[in-house]
Amino acid sequence: MKKLYIETYGCQMNVNDTEVVFSILAREGFERTEDIAEADVIFANTCSIRDNAEQRIWGRLDYFSTFRKSRPGVLVGILGCMAERLKDKLLDTGKVDIVAGPDAYRNLPALIAEASSGHPGINVILSREETYGDISPVRIDKGGVSAFISIMRGCNNVCSYCVVPYTRGAERSRDWRTIVREACECVEKGYREVTLLGQNVDSYLFEDVNFAKLLALVADVSPQLRVRFSTSHPKDISDEVIATMASRPNICHQIHLPVQSGNDRILEKMRRRYTREWYLGRVAKIREAMPDCGISTDAIVGFCSETEEEFRDTLSLFREVGFDSAFMFNYSERPGTLAARNYPDDVPPEVKTRRLNELIELQNNLSLESNRRDLDKVFEVLVEGPSKKGDGQLCGRNGAGKMCVWTDSEHKACDYVQVRVLDCSSATLLCELVKQ
Ligand code: 5AD
Ligand code: SF4
Repeated sequence: MKKLYIETYGCQMNVNDTEVVFSILAREGFERTEDIAEADVIFANTCSIRDNAEQRIWGRLDYFSTFRKSRPGVLVGILGCMAERLKDKLLDTGKVDIVAGPDAYRNLPALIAEASSGHPGINVILSREETYGDISPVRIDKGGVSAFISIMRGCNNVCSYCVVPYTRGAERSRDWRTIVREACECVEKGYREVTLLGQNVDSYLFEDVNFAKLLALVADVSPQLRVRFSTSHPKDISDEVIATMASRPNICHQIHLPVQSGNDRILEKMRRRYTREWYLGRVAKIREAMPDCGISTDAIVGFCSETEEEFRDTLSLFREVGFDSAFMFNYSERPGTLAARNYPDDVPPEVKTRRLNELIELQNNLSLESNRRDLDKVFEVLVEGPSKKGDGQLCGRNGAGKMCVWTDSEHKACDYVQVRVLDCSSATLLCELVKQ
């Protein structure tokens, strides 16, 4: 058997794509290895979302080259968003044998064959139909507790800063029947949690099944299966989705709702197509239906022409919502996007970084406050396994997505347990087991 090694960068969707690639190539006699030194084929499944994500890959390419030199016949491939964005520029480096965009993975066996005969293989054709719906991913997470299921691909939103519509193409939804079947397979294999993935899950639509209906269908697969999803778009998250979440005990009360900015002029310039007021209205609606719902967000600081005052609006929105957690980024100009073509990247790097640090500090306090509000509460947690510290503690998440740790010698991964919160940091709830 030939050995295949894949490094995965970027979002959860990329992790799931890597699982699809393992599945496609398993049929061709490729076995997965985690040891790069014994690999016949080395792939990096890449991300283009910010410049630093791409810079990291350039560094890895030099490292991969050492194996290409020391073991003749070893092939190096770049998959995913960076492959799509840079195309033959990657082949021009002379360090890459295969370049495959996100919709070209069925073509990998042919690309590998081509490259083995000495001709670099490239396929960066984007598809309007490809969803890999019929492929059962080979799960790479060893825990066997939680699995990703992609429900759609691509994105039609064209936020002005974002490269994704260019690297992942137009939005298309996967047949709901294959999604439900995959959820059933997960249950049969012992998984206890699935996360439904899409760039904008709220615009899922296949035949007459919208995202709310899909959520209900997946939740009905088994009461033992927890259902999560990501990512929601504030302009699209519907009352029907919120009501469906509230109505099914196994749909976790957790929503990742990227706000990007708290200022209306910047939101308009980002082409987000909602206002601060609309966003706050959605949060209010979620909390009204599910007071215990975990709400997290993404934000970008230093977007083109953002003033100090406009940045303060992001700080005040964070305070007003009191997010449970957040991912925060400096704006990174991406070639070809609307923003790169139309607006100068004119906030100096040191100003961006100062704003970012200020926002991160605020969020750390908000996360701590959010966790303190949970002191003494009892949660049902799905055990993921031993905690990282490895001192007789287990870890797992509550419904809102918060990481809990507690001392426990009775349970194992995939069990549901009740824990009470005794103490917390900004990142973790420190708990005790509640005997039943
Ligand atoms: N610069 C910085 N952050 C970005 N994101 C997307 N594009 C950019 C960019 N050009 C962030 C957004 C998005 C998250 C996945 O990455 O916050 O929600
Ligand atoms: Fe990165 Fe976005 Fe591509 Fe995911 S979709 S790998 S976050 S650029």
